[in-house]
Formats: sequence, structure tokens, C-alpha cells
Amino acid sequence: MFYSLMKPIAFALEPETAHNLILKSAAKAPMLGTFFRGAKRDKKYQLNQKSWSFPLGIAAGLDKNAEAIDFFFSLGFGAIEVGTVTLKPQAGNPKPRIWRYKKSEDLRNAMGFPNHGSEVIKKNILKSQFIKSKEDRILGINLGKNKDSNFEESLDEYAKLFDLFAPLADYLVVNLSSPNTAGLREMQGSEFFARICEKLKPLCQKYSKPLYLKIAPELDPDNIKKLLEILDQYQWSGLIATNTSLNHNYDRGGLSGKSIFEESRKTRNLILSLIKDYPKLELIGVGGFSNPQQMKDFWALGGEKVQIYTSFIFQGPKILQDTQDFLKREFQRYQVADFKSYLLKLRKSQET
Ligand code: FNR
Repeated sequence: MFYSLMKPIAFALEPETAHNLILKSAAKAPMLGTFFRGAKRDKKYQLNQKSWSFPLGIAAGLDKNAEAIDFFFSLGFGAIEVGTVTLKPQAGNPKPRIWRYKKSEDLRNAMGFPNHGSEVIKKNILKSQFIKSKEDRILGINLGKNKDSNFEESLDEYAKLFDLFAPLADYLVVNLSSPNTAGLREMQGSEFFARICEKLKPLCQKYSKPLYLKIAPELDPDNIKKLLEILDQYQWSGLIATNTSLNHNYDRGGLSGKSIFEESRKTRNLILSLIKDYPKLELIGVGGFSNPQQMKDFWALGGEKVQIYTSFIFQGPKILQDTQDFLKREFQRYQVADFKSYLLKLRKSQET
């Protein structure tokens, strides 16, 4: 209700202006989230003590500077991924750099990691209520390279960022898949990626923090297979798939939302089939999710955690509420009391 009143005003504004305005209000009044009908926290949606409190989380890029963590938690998201944070602050690409497509419910962005930099973002996280009362709240921190650094320099940047943020994060993400930073996606190549793993190895041992790699939807199957082998070898936690897509006819930027669902889903489904050989790796699903039935298909194939960005912009907190209502109906249908038993029964029902 609150969001349906707000949306026409926000959508009348230029996308980045609307985004900044909402984020600023959310940062000032974090408990504003309780006025929206999102998801209600309930232990039955949590798989185990360390897991997300709800299977739906906010994807990176929405709260780049970690300014509104408490607001997003108060909506009921199971995890908030902040960033992408770079070591030094940077302005990003020239504006305009976000475009909104109402009919197809897509966004396109060419942001180029504008952010206040690691020092300020660390302070923002430390200021939040979240850090004081962690409870069942999961904070992911997404790490990226500065625009002008070459590969060797970026290795140092990822290591410094890891050291700075590991004590604050529940999980960390190495982002090699944003299409708006020149040279970043090439680092998804297995030789580059193995060097990143080698560089981060001592820090992985020092902190033993869950660590994920976020990849693009267009990666070819051989590349994905090699990445999985390396992830397993270096004991990372898994993949986040996918980032925005370059498969579009616009002049620049990465596309997100409904139009990338199919491409992103194909990549995820390939990973879900390959990952069965690596019991310690997991896949966090993101890219085009706009309704709980799509999440159900992901859960049925072995996935568990889903992130959204674009559908949250178009639907608001209602998507959380819809997902929770959907789960309640599913629990009845499968005669289970919690999400863990639901996943077991759902997957079993697929075998028969
Ligand atoms: C993003 N995304 C993103 N991802 C990331 O790892 N770091 C980032 O800084 C950003 N920034 C960003 C800005 C904007 C405006 C958008 C729309 C997206 C990608 C995002 O996290 C997600 O992977 C994709 O948007 C696909 O999911 P959705 O939006 O289809 O649910």
C-alpha cells in the first residue's frame, strides 16, 4: 500500500535521483521499513542458525555505500549484500547511467562502481544497528576493483578489501562480472581467477569467512566448469549467478530484470547440475527473479538462497510478502512446518 503510493512519485523522477532520494530517506529513518508489508521474521524460514532468516536477499548495487542496511533488514530480507565497494572512493561513469523500462520491468545500468570507498563504507557499517544486534541478520559485502587499476594492482586491492571487511561480514563476494568496469570480466578466465584465489588464500585461512565469486550470465560452460574446480580447490563457498547481461540492443550498460531471467536461469541450471559433484559448494541465485514460482523451480533443482534487485524496484516490498504467502501455501501443500523440510520434500517429489 505504502509502496503503491510512493512508486508513481519515484517513477516520475530520473531513476538515479529517485534511487538516491529513497535511500537517503531510508538511511535517516530505518524503521520506516516496518510501515511496508514485507516479510515477517520467523525461525521456520531459517535452515540453520548461521543461514539466512528468509530465502530472499537484496543483491549488490542497491545499497552500494551501506547506508540503509537497517531499513532493508526491517523489511524482512534474509540477507543484505552491500557494495560493490572499491578500496578508494570513485565517481563512476558519467550520468545518466540508469535506465528504467516499465513495460518489460527491466533496468539497464552503466554505473561503473560509484561508491564512497572502503574507509567510509566500513564506518557506515559500524554505525548501523545491525552490527550492534546481529541476531539472525546476514550481511554480505561485495568487493570490486578500482577503475584505473591493472590486474596486478587489483590483486592487492582485493586482498586489502578482504582484510578490511572480513571481520564485519557474514560473507564476502569477489565481483568479477560487472560489465561497466573495463577488464573486470576478463578476470573470470580461469588463469586470472586462480591467481586471485592464490592471493587471497592466506586471508581465507586467517578469517575462514564464506567467500563467493559473482559471475556474468554469458560465461560459457567450459569456463564455468574450470571455475568450479578452482573454487573447490581453494575452498571457497561457491558462486553467485548472475550479474547483469550484455545481451541487449541498447548502446551500453548491463541489463537486469525480467528480460534476463531466461539467460540467467540457463546459467544457474547448468551450475546446479555441475555443482552436485562438489558437495561443499553452493549457488546463490540472482538475475531476473520476479515471482515465487521461479524461486520454487530454483529450490527444486537444489538452490536455496535467492537475491533480487530489479523486481524490488518494480514491485517493492510486496515481493517479500508474496514470497512469504507463497511459502505458507506450499508448506500446507507439502505438509511441512519449515523451509528445510519443504526443500527436502520438494526435491524428493521431483525424483518420482
Ligand atoms: C547492479 N548489480 C550490481 N552487482 C554487483 O555485484 N555490484 C554492483 O555494484 C551492482 N550494481 C548494480 C546497479 C544497478 C543499478 C543494477 C540494476 C544492478 C547487479 C545486481 O546485483 C544483479 O546481479 C542484477 O541486477 C541481476 O538481478 P535482478 O536485478 O534481475 O534481480
